[in-house]
Amino acid sequence: RIATRARACLGSTDSPSGARAPKEASMAQFEKRSLVWVPHAEDVMAPATVMEDFSAGQTGKVLTEDGEERILTPKESQQCLEADTEVLDSNVDNLIHLRDLNEHAILHNLRIRYKEDKIYTSVSSILISVNPFKLLPLYTPEVIDDYREGIRGKPPHVFGIAWAAHTQMLSDNINQSVIVSGESGAGKSEAAKLMLQFIAEVSNKAAKVSGKAAVTSNLEQQLLQANPIMESFGNAKTLRNNNSSRFGKLISINFDGTGSIRGGSIIEYLLEKSRIVFQTQGERNYHIFYQLLAGGEANLSLKSHLGLDLPETFHYLDQSGVTVIDGVNDEKEFEDISNAMDVLNFGEEEKTEIFSIVAATLHLGNVGFDVVVNTTSEDGSKVSNEDVSARAAQLLQVDNQRLCTVLTSRNIGNRTKILVAYGIAEAANARDAIAKSIYARLFSRIIKRINVTLATAGPTEDHMINVLDIFGFESFETNSFEQLCINYCNEKLQFHFNEHIFRLEQEVYAAEGVHVPDTDFKDNQPTLDLLESKTGIFRSIDDEISVPQGSDDTFLSKLKAQYTNKHPNFAVPKPRQCKDAISCFGVVHYAGTVFYNVTDFLEKNRDSLHPDIMGMLRQSGSDFIKAMYPDESGEPGEKTGRVRRRQGKKAVKTLGGQFRASLESLMKTLNSTFPHFVRCMKPNDQKIGNKFMSQMMLDQLRYAGLLEVCRIRKLGFPVRRGFEEFFKRYRPLYPAAKNFDDILFHLTHDEDNKLKPGQWAKGHSKMFMKNEQAAELDQAREEAFIAVARKCQRIIRGFIWRTKYRIWRNTLTLLAQAKQDRKLEALEHWLLMSEELPHKGAHLPLVKQSRAL
Ligand SMILES: Nc1ncnc2c1ncn2[C@@H]1O[C@H](COP(=O)(O)OP(=O)(O)OP(=O)(O)O)[C@@H](O)[C@H]1O
Ligand SMILES: [Mg+2]
Repeated sequence: RIATRARACLGSTDSPSGARAPKEASMAQFEKRSLVWVPHAEDVMAPATVMEDFSAGQTGKVLTEDGEERILTPKESQQCLEADTEVLDSNVDNLIHLRDLNEHAILHNLRIRYKEDKIYTSVSSILISVNPFKLLPLYTPEVIDDYREGIRGKPPHVFGIAWAAHTQMLSDNINQSVIVSGESGAGKSEAAKLMLQFIAEVSNKAAKVSGKAAVTSNLEQQLLQANPIMESFGNAKTLRNNNSSRFGKLISINFDGTGSIRGGSIIEYLLEKSRIVFQTQGERNYHIFYQLLAGGEANLSLKSHLGLDLPETFHYLDQSGVTVIDGVNDEKEFEDISNAMDVLNFGEEEKTEIFSIVAATLHLGNVGFDVVVNTTSEDGSKVSNEDVSARAAQLLQVDNQRLCTVLTSRNIGNRTKILVAYGIAEAANARDAIAKSIYARLFSRIIKRINVTLATAGPTEDHMINVLDIFGFESFETNSFEQLCINYCNEKLQFHFNEHIFRLEQEVYAAEGVHVPDTDFKDNQPTLDLLESKTGIFRSIDDEISVPQGSDDTFLSKLKAQYTNKHPNFAVPKPRQCKDAISCFGVVHYAGTVFYNVTDFLEKNRDSLHPDIMGMLRQSGSDFIKAMYPDESGEPGEKTGRVRRRQGKKAVKTLGGQFRASLESLMKTLNSTFPHFVRCMKPNDQKIGNKFMSQMMLDQLRYAGLLEVCRIRKLGFPVRRGFEEFFKRYRPLYPAAKNFDDILFHLTHDEDNKLKPGQWAKGHSKMFMKNEQAAELDQAREEAFIAVARKCQRIIRGFIWRTKYRIWRNTLTLLAQAKQDRKLEALEHWLLMSEELPHKGAHLPLVKQSRAL
């Protein structure tokens, strides 16, 4: 009835399942005292109690949850939906338990829980985490201890996910992945850090038990300290997050069979390079720049060695009007980073090399250019402040004249040098390209260096947990190549999510002959084809690079010719749909349509420095820089991307190609592990506590595919176990059972009827269960275990006491003998032994008399 009314009231809007409402059913009735969803300016839809009967489309009178009477206009009442009173209960912490499962109920549940600081809510096994933007007592050592003991009966928590991953890794012998997603500022990195912290604690306990505490503790520290280093070099203040990760990362942790950490590794994805040379108003460059400068103020020799000064004196830090972050002390952070580098075994020299490159980037940014007037050809340029370029050259250990030459000209000759002069704009571009390249490669080098330390424990890949913290879906006013890459990544992850949650589910049901209602889901394979197929967008950009005279415009017109009206996920924007529509194409993503502006697409995808510059850097006096620029022979350190060879032409590695390759590898990793999903949500865009912006949250629920999950999960059987596995798992309930059929017989025929009708299904090789059913069986199994454990304890205790008793009886017999024989030495010995007796034997006359003697 609720479903019918829901559809009726939605009128022409799509229902959550995508079904359209029948028009004639739009006369829903709402009875006095019943609960209804009413349109609400802030909450989108809010529950209210009907004060007098009304029909949809008529004026209605309701009492809101705040106790206010409200008159609904006919238009408003048309949108009303009947609600279930359970939506008022903030204790429902798993959304699939809501009977009234629609988007308003889900949103309201999250809203009322958020108001009570219950920021974690489950959707089956997926965890939703709503950023509280304030410190909550949710991560104290007591809470860690509590979740370390297990999660049964405990509220959803990010520690619960970490516990489940760690426990399943050991018990099921399958590697695990935790995929943390959400938009910028939603709390992904904090969640990832908390999980690492929890895993380190669990590992620590396991190591103590197995006597390897010393080695493991060092590794745990190194793993935890890797984070501040990565954040310093890869995070920045943005408008949306004061500590925004401008790269994606996959942290893999290796464990031994006892569950203690044996090593780890980190893979980074797509550091945002444009930030190194330019930041929009109110944003900052990467933290390390400000930290290093602040560190220099406290360490004058560092300051003079690197030529440090105030942030405002550097062009790359002085364009956005912001150099400090409220509540952040860059000087202290610098100290912490430096210490973290020590923990990760960075040597002093290595640290100096790294800071020199950071400083060199800043000096390079201050290099200016003057016009050199040329009467016969276009004007050229020259460096206007060679003292500044000299400082950069010195720190990069390259020749200043050579640096000035590659900044202002390029060689087009093969054997003989033919220099083509740059105008000042081109020179500034060359300067920025060098800065972006050296910083990005420095970042990669640091991660590689961290990996070397984390790998020292040896290649024990027995067990592994991966934690993926990667950029969420992005859609701005103007979107460029970076957004295309990020959204492509999100499509891949969405596909993996779909695969896991929906598609595999359907296939397994079909293969096992289990009937569940049809659960169609939004398959994003067509979008992926558009992006990554042989004729897809990424390949088209690659191809355009090798076409003589190929440009952003030629790429766009070819793309339009190929896909307009031919692919359902390709869109050509109308002028009012986006800025500079003429330069844009659109992709219909699972989360919505995004229009991409092709300006600089080719250049960004080419992502290469001019050979003159590469040559200069490869001949740097610094081994560190040389290692950042290995030659094309593919020395260690070179990224592997798609290498395109065409009729003997030189190999080209494009950014898109490299990114595609790294995503393929990521997907391979994820597909070979058991996934856990943490969906982070940002409740407001002001980064403040206690503010829940409903429309914003609703959009995120949809982006995260959670509305679909709720619907589909509830229809199916989320838990499944092979017959043999089922038999082994639940045998403790019936120790005499010989096989799966025996167990099933007991479970379905015994009086307590542990398998409930409709809660399970038997396939050809697997048992399927609803979550509640599986939880009930597991609970019974745990109780059976406890009973066995108690029996073991009884037997062991009995054995211990019997053994002790025999020793005591022997002591007393021999004491009595010594007393009788009046042998002093024997008497003393057995009196000493009698100290082991209960109450030291003081209550026994024999002992008393012997002592007196
Ligand atoms: N569990 C939490 N408790 C308290 N504050 C939190 C929590 N999670 C996140 N925050 C706050 O939100 C901020 C942003 O979180 P975080 O950096 O994890 O976002 P993100 O999703 O990684 O964003 P980005 O994609 O920009 O890196 C944190 O700096 C912190 O102030
Ligand atoms: Mg982050």
